[in-house]
Amino acid sequence: MAYLRNAWYAAGWPDEIDEDTLLGRRILDEPVVMYRTSDGKAVAIGDRCPHRFAPLHLGRHVGDAIQCGYHGLEFGADGKCRLNPHGGGHLPNTSVPTYPLAEKHGILWIWMGDAKQADETLISDAFSFVADNKRAHVKGYLHVKANYMLLVDNLMDLSHGLYLHRGSLATQEMQENFEPVTRVDGDIVYSEREQPNIAPPALWVPSLPPGTDRVDYFSHNEWHKPSNVIHPVGCRMLGKAEGEDGGVSSRSAHLFTPETATTSHYFYSNSRNYKVGNPDTDAHVRGILARVFGSEDRPMIEAQQLLIGEADLMALRPLILPSDKAAVLVRRKLTQMIAQEEQGEEVMVRHPSNASASA
Ligand code: FES
Ligand SMILES: [Fe+2]
Repeated sequence: MAYLRNAWYAAGWPDEIDEDTLLGRRILDEPVVMYRTSDGKAVAIGDRCPHRFAPLHLGRHVGDAIQCGYHGLEFGADGKCRLNPHGGGHLPNTSVPTYPLAEKHGILWIWMGDAKQADETLISDAFSFVADNKRAHVKGYLHVKANYMLLVDNLMDLSHGLYLHRGSLATQEMQENFEPVTRVDGDIVYSEREQPNIAPPALWVPSLPPGTDRVDYFSHNEWHKPSNVIHPVGCRMLGKAEGEDGGVSSRSAHLFTPETATTSHYFYSNSRNYKVGNPDTDAHVRGILARVFGSEDRPMIEAQQLLIGEADLMALRPLILPSDKAAVLVRRKLTQMIAQEEQGEEVMVRHPSNASASA
């Protein structure tokens, strides 16, 4: 499957790897192992030993290297084989791939394309709220047996909330004035919904001032390439600004990373600026997220994937509804980016000197 390779994908949470961990994860259909070198730097190398293809993450962390758990070859953070216990001192000329790995905004980001283009400033500061210690955070991970774009679709078309999450995130009344506005700013696609003067959805009621029966509800989504979505959502008190007079809102990062063509990593981080440092609210939010994503979204999306099979959704000519506008725009933009990247690679292969001269 074709992926956008020259882009930063979420690879994990920084606290998933400590000095002892070897974290194996398949990303864009490539086996990757992440670990920390002795100076604490997070690094990523190929997770397939070139000898008999054992996963390196089943081995041992030895200094700044990984010792294969099968027959003991050792590979450093530069991917090179640095020790062969069987060769009488002979070092085979072999290595595993290396991948740029950045730790920024409380997220581990991996670059699966041309390492020379892996510029950390391309990681948008729009995700800085994930590491804002003035906010409360609840984060998690789900493995989903579905293509990552079905997950992006899910976020960019929140009309599903009226049906799949009725009772927790949506009310009957919301159906009557559900009119998201889609707009594009450069490489970012926005889908924004304002629903003034409605009853608050059940999720928000415990956090609002007692007796609040009408709110100005808002729910926005913004897609950042390749497959990450920021979701600010909440209830403003009638006619007030966000957070004023007891209004409550949250901001979430939904980071979707292809594992294979039909399976994905789903990293989510929900942050809020109310009831910070309140473990009961953390537990309440954690329970809701587990139910909404794990028990409502995930089963539906995995069931979709089973019916779609190996095909590309758009090749099956799905019915397009007005509420699909943002999701279709995202798919179109990403498809264009992948095509441009592949054309660029062709130019590089055919005319390497021209390509570098024009870069
Ligand atoms: S499979 Fe890794 S050393 Fe043999
Ligand atoms: Fe959902």
